[in-house]
Amino acid sequence: YTAATPYTSLPAVLLIGPSGSGKTALLTLFERGPFYHNKDATNSDNAKPSVSTPVAETHTTQVPSAVELAVSSSSDPTSPATISSYRTDLDAAGAQAKKFLLVDTPGHPKLRGHALASLAQDTPTISVPPTPASSFNPSNSNETNQPSKIKAVLFLIDAAALADSDSPYLSTAAEHLHDALLALQRRHRARKGSRAPPAVPVLVAANKLDLFTALPAALVKSNLEAEISRIRRARSKGLLSSDRQDADGLDGDEDEADGWLGSYGSEKFSFKEMLEFDIEVEVLGGNVVGEGPGAEKWWRWIAERI
Ligand code: GTP
Repeated sequence: YTAATPYTSLPAVLLIGPSGSGKTALLTLFERGPFYHNKDATNSDNAKPSVSTPVAETHTTQVPSAVELAVSSSSDPTSPATISSYRTDLDAAGAQAKKFLLVDTPGHPKLRGHALASLAQDTPTISVPPTPASSFNPSNSNETNQPSKIKAVLFLIDAAALADSDSPYLSTAAEHLHDALLALQRRHRARKGSRAPPAVPVLVAANKLDLFTALPAALVKSNLEAEISRIRRARSKGLLSSDRQDADGLDGDEDEADGWLGSYGSEKFSFKEMLEFDIEVEVLGGNVVGEGPGAEKWWRWIAERI
């Protein structure tokens, strides 16, 4: 690795979500993979993982940081249990690896714009600084200065913070998710010609399930759906009133439909509505530190979409 190493064009998985949801922690867990020891996480001094420089240094800036990861590209159905774990050392396993970048973005509301703008492109891409060859990540596949194509989005959310009904966490998080989904959806209306924009699936990862106060994934899902229903209703400012509908039903005006997430005019939002726009949304629970279901399901979700 040298300072002159250009940008990479590996496919990217974009990591977004509110501040404190555990994005940096997850990045570290996946980066360290087979070298990760959970005792690091239970020792409170190390609870905030220390990551090699680019993550720490760029964290509060607009510049996304990334780690290079690899999933097995083996389609052998007899081996996925071991091969498609982030704990598997792919080099040691001799598996054929598919490399990708996991791109961390700042969760702070004032710094979200960059990631959301990336998702709004017809073919979503993101430019990231070169990944350094660290001791955990000795190879470095930076080749060109092409931006990376975003193949999937991982929206990480703190399921314990969500349980506190007095905090604004649910509304802030739901708004963030709403905006990300709307950016992806808008590509469909904005497209030229009949070609559909590339599908970008979204995983809502309900984190911190090691904490007993955390909401289970099913409740994280229903709470987010209810809050997004409220957000899109509030944003439409009553423009869905009956006098704006003609004989065809919901015909409204183009702008209005453009800013409405999901099925136009539906009462209760459901993530399933996003399938109309070829956007798959799944909610899966897990945890980065502590005892719990862990992060394997998330890793597998990524592996299947890279
Ligand atoms: P921003 O950088 O502000 O966007 O936050 P972030 O999403 O990167 O969060 P970060 O990784 O810094 O994690 C915030 C805190 O949550 C840290 O103290 C982590 O150790 C803790 N944390 C992350 N994952 C888990 C988890 O699964 N369980 C528990 N109990 N704590 C976690």
